[in-house]
Amino acid sequence: MTTPIDSQGVHQHALRFFEEEVTFLFHITDWCNLSCQHCFINAQNVPVHQFTAEEVLSIVRDMKKLNTTRIAFSGGEPTLHPDLTRILEVAVEEGFSPDFVSNGTLITEELAEKVRDLVRCVLISVDGPQEYHDTFRGMKGAFQSAMRGIEALRKKDVPFALQFTVTKKSFPYIEWIAETASDLGAESLKLEPLFVGGRAREIASSCLSEKEIDELAEFTTRLYGQYLASTSVYMGIHSKKVLTEHPCNAYACFGSECHRHAENDPRELIILPDGNVVPVDSCLNPRLYMGNIREKSLMDVVQEYFGSPQHRGFLALCRKVFDEQVVSYPYEAIPWSQMLAAASWEDGYD
Ligand SMILES: C[S@@+](CC[C@H](N)C(=O)[O-])C[C@H]1O[C@@H](n2cnc3c(N)ncnc32)[C@H](O)[C@@H]1O
Repeated sequence: MTTPIDSQGVHQHALRFFEEEVTFLFHITDWCNLSCQHCFINAQNVPVHQFTAEEVLSIVRDMKKLNTTRIAFSGGEPTLHPDLTRILEVAVEEGFSPDFVSNGTLITEELAEKVRDLVRCVLISVDGPQEYHDTFRGMKGAFQSAMRGIEALRKKDVPFALQFTVTKKSFPYIEWIAETASDLGAESLKLEPLFVGGRAREIASSCLSEKEIDELAEFTTRLYGQYLASTSVYMGIHSKKVLTEHPCNAYACFGSECHRHAENDPRELIILPDGNVVPVDSCLNPRLYMGNIREKSLMDVVQEYFGSPQHRGFLALCRKVFDEQVVSYPYEAIPWSQMLAAASWEDGYD
């Protein structure tokens, strides 16, 4: 569907859908059994915000209409949600192959059996060897429980992957996590540098420097080659080359300006446990949130977003970060979405 765009590239028609394929990271609860030092959700040991299976059903139906190709459910801890299996069924009924992200501690063989035919992959967070992991995740025994969860997935042939948070302290364990992921039979390993948000504000000094992120990228390339046959090792960070060759990936060109004719609608969307829908990075300033699906349907949130001050603000932010930071960034591995989030809290970007 094509609609007219104004001089800032913002669509003028109220009623339209995403032009490009979108992915959703859907935090269905903020309830968690762990108290991780770095939790950007600020998850608690009681459910403060939690979607019901019925609410998820109507949201997932809207996602289907919105050109969504991938959904990952997260939390809090999604396995604490009493209706996780029903939620996965709903996604499958709508034609998705969902993923979910878990700390693994509550995954039993019974749960693994139930989700086997419903999920594309279960992503399990492992942040280091036993002692480090338990301290970082705020619970003695968390590591052993996660390993039992992984064993249950393996026994029931459920595809799984590992996710590892890279901090200054856990950097020395990268070789170990790659070997562990491969030995366990994980289909992939995502190395995610710590970003600042929620409880991670307290440990901001553990974030990697720009240079360390670049070193991590080189390390990742080596590990990718080393474990190619068993586990795909990758990093949750953008490439400067990709962003500068195709500024549409940074939402910094659009429509006729873009040689790929890509539209600059946000393509990665996050639903926070409190219902706020956020483009690209969960740590973005709330004044750029798209809307709240506890107040109106996801469809209405999206329809009202196009051309709104929030949409214009988001595009202005992307343009400013691109012009002022991306183009001159000294390294190839660039924490672009974190730069976007940080800049959104500064005054005067729009
Ligand atoms: C918010 S958790 C929720 C799912 C589940 N409870 C878990 O621990 O995997 C989802 C993922 O985000 C990661 N994460 C949380 N806070 C982060 C931060 N500040 N920086 C980087 N990754 C973070 C976790 O390590 C986990 O892999």
